[in-house]
Amino acid sequence: MVFLFAHPPQLTSIRDLLARCGLPHDDLNPDNIVHFLTCRTDGMLAGATGMEILGEEAVLRPPAVEADMRGRGIASLLLVRIERFAALGGARRFFAPSGPNDDYLLQRGYRRVEGEEIPEEVRRHAVFCGVGDSGASALTKNLVATKMPAAKKAALASDRQ
Ligand SMILES: CC(C)(COP(=O)(O)OP(=O)(O)OC[C@H]1O[C@@H](n2cnc3c(N)ncnc32)[C@H](O)[C@@H]1OP(=O)(O)O)[C@@H](O)C(=O)NCCC(=O)NCCS
Repeated sequence: MVFLFAHPPQLTSIRDLLARCGLPHDDLNPDNIVHFLTCRTDGMLAGATGMEILGEEAVLRPPAVEADMRGRGIASLLLVRIERFAALGGARRFFAPSGPNDDYLLQRGYRRVEGEEIPEEVRRHAVFCGVGDSGASALTKNLVATKMPAAKKAALASDRQ
């Protein structure tokens, strides 16, 4: 298994995967596709998940795994990695749109939040269309950065000189 961030030529294959999995995909374009982390096996796209960092909040595009590749830990491995990348990018909380398979995230440290508990900038994101309406919900998880980003280390070092 190889985990790599996506490139614009993978837009169609990732969009098709998300469509097959019933996940939001209409807003995907060559600019935001690069925020997807992909899992490839034998050169084929097996799964993908995405993030967009909005300051201390970040939007999680929930993992999608090809039907014949499920049950091998691919979504779990994608999730652990994208959470870490988001935390290292400065995000403190992930928000995922609610969907039919919420239990998957609820069993992995996420909790449900409703309407006003979802920050406005998150609610405005394309994958959250309608979440601002009463009764709409999302899933959230606090993120913890386990390693200082190289850029931050360099900035601290230059501050000390
Ligand atoms: C949900 C999904 C991403 C799981 O992918 P995966 O690579 O098979 O997941 P993993 O191998 O990491 O985990 C498998 C475990 O999750 C469990 N699981 C799968 N779907 C689940 C669901 N909807 N709710 C709760 N648990 C679920 C499996 O039973 C399995 O449990 P086990 O480890 O005790 O046997 C995949 O089924 C999928 O792409 N579904 C459609 C897209 C979707 O709804 N994505 C959003 C999920 S939040």
